Amino acid sequence: MNDEALVLGIETSCDETGVGLVRGSTLLADSIASSVQAHARYGGVVPEVASRAHLEAMAPTVQRALDEAGATLNDVDAIAVTAGPGLAGALLVGVAAAKAYALAAGKPLYGVNHLAAHIAVDRLEHGPLPEPAIALLVSGGHSSLLLVEDLATGTQPLGATIDDAAGEAFDKVARLLGLPFPGGPPIDREARDGNPGSIPFPRGLTSHRDLARHRFDFSFSGLKTAVARWVEARERAGEPVPVADVAASFQEAVCDVLTRKALDACVEHGVDTLLIGGGVAANSRLRAMAAERCAARGIRLRAPRPTLCTDNGAMVAALGAHLVESGVAASTLNIPARSALPVTVVNLAG
Ligand code: KG4
Ligand code: ZN
Repeated sequence: MNDEALVLGIETSCDETGVGLVRGSTLLADSIASSVQAHARYGGVVPEVASRAHLEAMAPTVQRALDEAGATLNDVDAIAVTAGPGLAGALLVGVAAAKAYALAAGKPLYGVNHLAAHIAVDRLEHGPLPEPAIALLVSGGHSSLLLVEDLATGTQPLGATIDDAAGEAFDKVARLLGLPFPGGPPIDREARDGNPGSIPFPRGLTSHRDLARHRFDFSFSGLKTAVARWVEARERAGEPVPVADVAASFQEAVCDVLTRKALDACVEHGVDTLLIGGGVAANSRLRAMAAERCAARGIRLRAPRPTLCTDNGAMVAALGAHLVESGVAASTLNIPARSALPVTVVNLAG
């Protein structure tokens, strides 16, 4: 008899239909259907296309996850679903499906926060998160620094991007370098052959004056523009664009600012654990730089493996399991999908 809760997690906030099954801190299944190829030619996720793809992928992806775990819906103790933040129509598909499964099988429902799920997923790899911790969450839709004192009750925002998200900057810079969407992985690959010190791209919101107002905020739109200007100047001069050097220098600028501010947040708040999560946390340079800088300052780094950093259903199930263990009350079947759900809300009550 196993007394750890078996939780099914459903994720549909962006372009990945993810369904995961977790028992306690053990990952049993992580099934994903992505519509990323359908968005590639637009250079970004098209909400209507994503919603339709979720609708088609939902039932088969749930079935695949159950099969992978050797479980049936009846075995499940609770169902968790991303209730926000994310694309409204995409979230609605997941929330409606989760309600239907919960109602049909008579299971409690947890409508959870996507950002908190990016944090909770680490327990599947490294066990319970030491609290307090600082979380750096960087993806295509968000870039946030959070103080996590008790993940089950909420996280406290310290800063966020004031314009583009970090992943969005990767995607836009990739596009202007002629690399495919999503741009993070190809930039990561190109950068390995480039010199990260070759072009001194700007580090947004790090000047003395900016730090006074935006201590833990980020800005990547100036960096993106600086890269665009630099590339245009080369093209105008009829010179070839050194793609690897541009990719490496751009990536260095992003990782430098992200890790610098994350480490400063740890020191300023007297916290000795830093967690990185979200799609951009799959970046090899960000992981290496965070590891180096954490080691230099005696801070423990928690970085889930890259496939758990990008959106997936296991992270939602992991947060659901954490909430069940923490005795948090389930949501009602009346919960809405909330595209702008604040990070302070981990679980929608009703
Ligand atoms: O967390 P995620 O899968 O979805 C959102 O919630 O947005 O993050 C997707 C983002 C994309 O912008 C993608 O380019 C970026 O994560 N990404 C990366 C890498 N892998 C994915 N960025 C930099 N380096 C990578 N290796
Ligand atoms: Zn995400």
